[in-house]
Amino acid sequence: MTGQLQMPMVDDDSVRKAAASAANVAYSIPDISNQEKSELKQRIREQLKAQNAVLVAHYYVDADIQELAEETGGYVSDSLDMARFGHEHSASTLVVAGVRFMGETAKILNPEKRIIMPDLDAECSLDMNCPVDEFSAFCDAHPDYTVVVYANTSAAVKARADWMVTSGIAVDVITHLVERGEKIIWAPDRHLGGYIKKLSGADILLWQGSCIVHDEFRAQELIALKQQHPEAAVLVHPESPAAVVELADVVSSTTGLIKAAGEMDNPSFIVATDNGIFYKMAQAAPGKKFIEAPSGGEGATCQSCAHCPWMAMNNLRNLAEVLESGENEIHVDPDIQAKAVKPIQRLLGFSEQQKNNS
Ligand code: 13P
Ligand code: SF4
Repeated sequence: MTGQLQMPMVDDDSVRKAAASAANVAYSIPDISNQEKSELKQRIREQLKAQNAVLVAHYYVDADIQELAEETGGYVSDSLDMARFGHEHSASTLVVAGVRFMGETAKILNPEKRIIMPDLDAECSLDMNCPVDEFSAFCDAHPDYTVVVYANTSAAVKARADWMVTSGIAVDVITHLVERGEKIIWAPDRHLGGYIKKLSGADILLWQGSCIVHDEFRAQELIALKQQHPEAAVLVHPESPAAVVELADVVSSTTGLIKAAGEMDNPSFIVATDNGIFYKMAQAAPGKKFIEAPSGGEGATCQSCAHCPWMAMNNLRNLAEVLESGENEIHVDPDIQAKAVKPIQRLLGFSEQQKNNS
């Protein structure tokens, strides 16, 4: 059976309301003065050192946090590499600046380490749109399908999966499974799933989740923007709608898009992903111009406006506070951890093997 999944879903409105509320929290934080910024950074540096802690940040968080992670021997990357770095690093505490599933993935891979996050309410619409009970029932109804889930899921959903993947490696894993003759359940992002299905020709059942940031990029407005900037290359994350993906010069994961910006000759780039990525893109391609792809239609009706409201909940203040208070520790039920680690380790093994073969 090939097709699109019909299923009960958390209604999109409740996810959008949660996002709007997160956006209010994130954007109501007043601008931090330069003096406060340097005081906060100093407090964070001292705490990291005193607690044998390392700061691991996602590309989408505030540029000041990314800078601090690099300066203090931490790491800035995509969700897979953040988990890998945290796993290999000797620190006993990982401070994860990102969204909740990233903290959970770190805990699943490192149950012996302390994982803390600036704000435990930093969610992800993909994770919220894939409740474990509904997802498990769906998997149970299709026992002959291999279950592949995106990293952007809860620990409990990962525990129900055969494989976990990230956008950087999803096509390779699915192609590998197709070669083995396997049929696939993919969750939760429908756009990324559709993109993989098209490239791999796999027999895939798609869960119908979406990312509130990427889902808002608009093809018609992108065509108009391309006409205004004919010199610009268009870089698109595959969580974007298919019509936007079709207009791309490069479709890739966050890490892949940064690499493309560094390698291409174009003087400017139109970028369809969270604008937090511009910090790393500017490092990879100094002097080049980065333009946000249009979202939510003309008339500025976008809700996310190319920035994830949950990623924006990470700031220097709550980062300093969480280090000083020791609050916001991530815990994962040990039974769930024991199951959820398997699909993640399967992915890490696959990616290691790929490296060795290349
Ligand atoms: P990465 O897996 O590339 O880090 O992306 C995570 C994400 O949330 C994309 O929106
Ligand atoms: Fe989730 Fe989208 Fe935010 Fe990434 S950008 S964390 S997929 S809501």
